[in-house]
Amino acid sequence: MCGIIGYCGHRPAVPLIVEGLHRLEYRGYDSSGVCFVQNGELKVVRAEGKLKLLEDKLARMEVSLATTGIGHTRWATHGAPTEDNAHPHRSSEGDLAIVHNGIFENYLECKRDLQDKGFSFSSQTDTEVLANLIADECRSAASLLEAFANALKKARGSYSVAMLSPREPNVVYAARHSCPLILGVGAGENFVASDIPAFLPYTREVVFLEDGEIARITPTSWEVFSLLDRAPLEKKTTRIEWDMQAAQKGGYKHFMLKEIFEQPQSISDCMSGRADFVNFSVNIAELEGMEKPARLRLIACGTSYHAGLWAQSLLEGLAGIPAVAEIASEFRYRNVPLEPGEVVLIISQSGETADTMAALRIAKEKGAKTIGICNVVGSSIAREADTVIFTQAGPEISVASTKAMAAQMTVLLLMALHWSKDEHPRREELRRILTGLADIPAALRDILPALQSEASKLAARFASCRGMFFLGRGQSYPLALEGALKVKELSYIHAEGYAAGEMKHGPIALIEPDFPSFVLLPNDGLYDKTRSNLEEVAARKGPIVALTCAGKSGPDIKGCETWLLPEAYGPLNSFLMLPALQLFSYEAAAFLGKDVDQPRNLAKSVTVE
Ligand code: M6R
Repeated sequence: MCGIIGYCGHRPAVPLIVEGLHRLEYRGYDSSGVCFVQNGELKVVRAEGKLKLLEDKLARMEVSLATTGIGHTRWATHGAPTEDNAHPHRSSEGDLAIVHNGIFENYLECKRDLQDKGFSFSSQTDTEVLANLIADECRSAASLLEAFANALKKARGSYSVAMLSPREPNVVYAARHSCPLILGVGAGENFVASDIPAFLPYTREVVFLEDGEIARITPTSWEVFSLLDRAPLEKKTTRIEWDMQAAQKGGYKHFMLKEIFEQPQSISDCMSGRADFVNFSVNIAELEGMEKPARLRLIACGTSYHAGLWAQSLLEGLAGIPAVAEIASEFRYRNVPLEPGEVVLIISQSGETADTMAALRIAKEKGAKTIGICNVVGSSIAREADTVIFTQAGPEISVASTKAMAAQMTVLLLMALHWSKDEHPRREELRRILTGLADIPAALRDILPALQSEASKLAARFASCRGMFFLGRGQSYPLALEGALKVKELSYIHAEGYAAGEMKHGPIALIEPDFPSFVLLPNDGLYDKTRSNLEEVAARKGPIVALTCAGKSGPDIKGCETWLLPEAYGPLNSFLMLPALQLFSYEAAAFLGKDVDQPRNLAKSVTVE
């Protein structure tokens, strides 16, 4: 994780870099720093904690003369989040400084060699080792570019890195391997950053760097070279069509709340051009010409994994394709035999998650056809998957993923329908689902304010509980997992998502009066089964909140209260239950005074293992 930015231009670099770091904070926010050349000298300013603390330090300094610089916002991997470990890191002789996102795996071995050569270290980070490795290469290389490339060739692991040196005070070098890095091409100024919003107010022209590429930017030029032999590479610029408006809070208190309320739009945008509600058909252009898969393996992490698990039964039930959802970090270390005709679906909002990316590469090595379901255009997964289907949910800034999951579910449902169209017995089902799906955005828009006010009441009552369960069966089971993940992630309350039928095999022992269960109880074929599980919880005096659309009074069990939702058709109920769960976790975190958009110990994009 971590966010990096580099700037060369005509504006004061430091405020511009700090502003960019604010837009990268979702990638990590436990410490930050900037480095710039002023009066020929390399200056590094760093602070432990939120970016505000770095800003306070900078406000007491004269920094306005520098027009070139690099900056970093950190999510600690090696060494505690202290000022000493914060980036940028200088080489021990102070002749260059770097910022780094990723993990330099063989850093200990390199550190020992460098210590033997007289280099000293003041942090516990792998990054400082890389800075000294470059400095060591400078002793024999003919140019900074050569030293940078030679050092990176020795580094194993993943990185995006940017470097500044007073030897070339108006130049920033940058390189990537398995971590995102994008060039921004402006007029009289150029940028490098981990993500586009960092420089979007200044330019929409971007160049996506690939693994094994090095960039050299000056105020008036940008060049890309191969890391291997430093040969210049031809790269094209791409114009970004979305703007900063889409990445601002727009009057909401938090990005998370804004993004929850954007779900009706995200679902509509995701269906646009794919679902035809007049002729009741679905056509996903990206899948045209592709045979229906013999088997599907859906691989993802966190919330994206829950979306995959949710879709598993739809792909089986509607399209008749055997499907299995897997956690990427588990898949990558099992030697999974992939069958001929098996297609691997890789689901990732960011398109940069390290485990998911590794799973994609393994699936490709094993000869499987891969389909990426991504939200971020130009992301690594989007570029490496054989086929990519974009969720079109718009930028998701909050660390807690919300609208991206609704969009992933929409795409996956449409894929199931796309592959079900030749199944004649399912034509009527397709018509009913599409009719219902067309109404989901409007239905959601109507109920979101009421859901928020109910969620806020429930949060005030239950936020001080010792722990809580989220229970569901069938299609509601992945949603239960997601409800629990969100509560843990945002309010730090222990929450478990469980298959309602599994409760009696152990977890029910936790039930007592201050251990509530939130139960997902749509009016489906599993209603009675789940209801029986509620009886078991009620008998042990556990408070129950049933999210249901069945009848006005809900399951009519003593001690069970009802959170009534409008009824949708079959699997579509999930689109109404999901925001209820998201809003509950949001309100619980807000009630407890937690940092909703930047929960502790987390980062938006998990680009490390
Ligand atoms: O960008 P991705 O969808 O690959 O991210 C996967 C998870 O890191 C992510 O969904 C995470 O679980 C969220 N913070 C949950 O809200």
